[in-house]
Amino acid sequence: MKAITYRSYGGPDVLEYGDVPEPKLGPDSVLVRVVAASVNPVDWKIQAGYLDGVLDVVFPVIPGWDVAGVVERVGVAVTEFAPGDEVIGYAREDMVRRGTFAEYVAAPVRTLARKPANLDFAQAAGLPLAGLTAYQALTRALELKPGETVLVHAAAGGVGSLAVQIAVALGARVIGTAGEHNHDYLRTLGAEPVAYGDGLADRVRALAPDGVDAVLDLVGGEALRISPALLTGGGRLASVADGAVLALGGHYVFVRPDAADLTALTELAESGRLTVEVAATFPLERAAEAQRLNAAGHTRGKIVVTVP
Ligand SMILES: NC(=O)c1ccc[n+]([C@@H]2O[C@H](COP(=O)([O-])OP(=O)(O)OC[C@H]3O[C@@H](n4cnc5c(N)ncnc54)[C@H](OP(=O)(O)O)[C@@H]3O)[C@@H](O)[C@H]2O)c1
Repeated sequence: MKAITYRSYGGPDVLEYGDVPEPKLGPDSVLVRVVAASVNPVDWKIQAGYLDGVLDVVFPVIPGWDVAGVVERVGVAVTEFAPGDEVIGYAREDMVRRGTFAEYVAAPVRTLARKPANLDFAQAAGLPLAGLTAYQALTRALELKPGETVLVHAAAGGVGSLAVQIAVALGARVIGTAGEHNHDYLRTLGAEPVAYGDGLADRVRALAPDGVDAVLDLVGGEALRISPALLTGGGRLASVADGAVLALGGHYVFVRPDAADLTALTELAESGRLTVEVAATFPLERAAEAQRLNAAGHTRGKIVVTVP
């Protein structure tokens, strides 16, 4: 089958397009014919070697954790899906070896859910990792409740655009940070936009003089540092981007594959409360360009790789 691989750590230039053997199908896995796979910052961070201390990486690596596709075959222990089913998945394992930037991926069944019927494959591929991150952070770490106000740092990106919609669906008021060019976009999602950078704390206080009930940080650094002072008494803080959140009394969230959570996202999409903005699509052989664009750090929504 055709796939993108890399044989050593590095930037987009180490990616190669070529033939690799099809994956074998273990008892708990589902062979998915990949229609689309989305790009996440973690792909190029793993590829750069940043996670070498925590993840076993077996070269050559097929990158990619997000998938939308069609079930080709199921492992002998799998009862949840059948050939022909349209699925989405955050196909992460603890070992980095065979990902989704390929014609086929053998995804553990615990990482999959049915694809939302009203999203096309490119949109659906953008949902799993980013959507699960937003959903798990907002519902578990932050325990966001109806009527509360949440501040989302980096609200226009992959995780942020989904976090805004999920928070709105939960009945919260959302303030989201983004560059000016994304402010109208944030309004369409239901958020009140504020520009990030110097003076951010004052701009948030102008919108929420009594403070916000929760902050979801998707940026880290200065955005995280100013956040505790923006909270109401008892307000909650979570970051997916900066472990320094722990020293500030907040939660560090690392997203987990979870079929039930993924199904909740599918249901939100099908109820019309969650959609995925696809900023750009690239054919599989141009995955390096997709990765470069994502690494530039200003994606609105998701960048997707499609498999012919
Ligand atoms: N721990 C986990 O489980 C987990 C899971 C998913 C993601 N993450 C991490 O979370 C971060 C965000 O992921 P993502 O997929 O959403 O990335 P992304 O889609 O690449 O985010 C791009 C967005 O970030 C915005 N942005 C850039 N600098 C900003 C700043 N200083 N303040 C506010 N917004 C800013 C950009 O908006 P403008 O164009 O308007 O500037 C753009 O819309 C990454 O570091 C990623 O590795 C962690």
